[in-house]
Amino acid sequence: MADENQITQTVNEQSQQSSKKYKIEHDRPNCIGCAACAAVAPDFWTMHEDGKSDIVGCKTRDDEWEELDIEEKNYQVNKEAADSCPVNVIHITNKETGEKII
Ligand code: F3S
Repeated sequence: MADENQITQTVNEQSQQSSKKYKIEHDRPNCIGCAACAAVAPDFWTMHEDGKSDIVGCKTRDDEWEELDIEEKNYQVNKEAADSCPVNVIHITNKETGEKII
């Protein structure tokens, strides 16, 4: 039974991974702390005490950009956050097609 559970868990993880169709990226070094992103999409964007925003649950790259893969259902709210940023430091890529949306 343990093996079956393991297989089920692995399959679930794979389908969750593949459902994360988009990647959001935050050019944090160039963020001016406008906070529009956190106002528009508070489940994904939060303000840090240094005055810049963070993507909730993201990983931070060596170049200090942040990135997070998201599911299609969370695309629209993050697109609105990206559109709201006055210095265009939020980017979204369609991982399936490679298209850079914003
Ligand atoms: Fe920064 Fe743009 Fe948000 S400047 S705080 S990423 S709206």
